[in-house]
Amino acid sequence: MLLAPTLAAHGAAIPAIGFGTSGLGYVRAEHIATALKAGYRHIDTARKYGTEPAVGEGIRTSGIPRGEIFVCTKVSHENLHAGDFARSVDDSLSALGLDYVDLLLVHWPEKNTPLAETIGALAKAKRQGLTRHIGVANFNIAMLDEAIRLCPEPLVTLQVECHPYLDQSKVIAACRERGVVLTAYCPLARGRLQGDPVLADIGRLYGKTCAQVALRWLMQQNIIAAIPRSSNAGRIAENINVFDFELDEDDMRRISALRRADGRTANPLGRAPAWDV
Ligand SMILES: NC(=O)c1ccc[n+]([C@@H]2O[C@H](COP(=O)([O-])OP(=O)(O)OC[C@H]3O[C@@H](n4cnc5c(N)ncnc54)[C@H](OP(=O)(O)O)[C@@H]3O)[C@@H](O)[C@H]2O)c1
Repeated sequence: MLLAPTLAAHGAAIPAIGFGTSGLGYVRAEHIATALKAGYRHIDTARKYGTEPAVGEGIRTSGIPRGEIFVCTKVSHENLHAGDFARSVDDSLSALGLDYVDLLLVHWPEKNTPLAETIGALAKAKRQGLTRHIGVANFNIAMLDEAIRLCPEPLVTLQVECHPYLDQSKVIAACRERGVVLTAYCPLARGRLQGDPVLADIGRLYGKTCAQVALRWLMQQNIIAAIPRSSNAGRIAENINVFDFELDEDDMRRISALRRADGRTANPLGRAPAWDV
């Protein structure tokens, strides 16, 4: 069985390939169990996705010991005041059927809630043992720095969209400087990378698919964990099978050059911060 290596950040060991679970209806308990049996040890969910019950059930039916699995969930933007935040974490743990998660994230920033209050609630959840590690998602670099400044506990990851069509070089550099893992969501650009001529061309050299080449490009930056989602057993196995080949410098450059102005897929109006580009 293929296990992904882990990335270290402030005491956390984050498996570099995780399983994405957004999309209730697409993601069922059997997909979680299939991913765990294929070697995934990192599952990404959120209160907002509605998939926490499926994640919990999938973990229980997989037969893989809980202690070997890195489970991440998130608190939504409408629950960032301290009392709502604490309730959301309790609801997540009940839905998952777990007594702790490995990583708890603020899902999106929310400008009407003081960041100090939210970050205080995040740190408190860690100190209460409800999560082993904490982090943020969809923060820009200035917000990440403010969160780091306010937080009495280390932030281990910034989760943002990241794939070859989106230039995240500034954010990757910022994470590297701060010792924070970048967790790449939509690592396959929600399926848009499929059939890309450059990825397909490089893939032919190594006997790999477009998705595998894109995921390998993320892995070779040595600071990125990627969380692809699939509801197909073959593609679930394919997406973690990216550790038996190495892209050379020219391949890496050609893939980086695929960045494009319309590359971003997740950009909710009114909620998204001013992204670092
Ligand atoms: N923090 C946030 O705000 C945020 C936002 C978005 C996503 N996320 C997280 O990131 C995860 C991944 O993002 P995502 O689900 O939006 O998109 P994604 O993983 O980039 O793409 C998923 C799509 O790609 C297809 N796919 C998967 N593997 C493939 C392969 N090997 N070849 C061809 N197509 C393939 C899937 O179809 P099939 O099912 O048919 O394979 C699905 O349609 C989410 O599930 C969620 O956990 C977080």
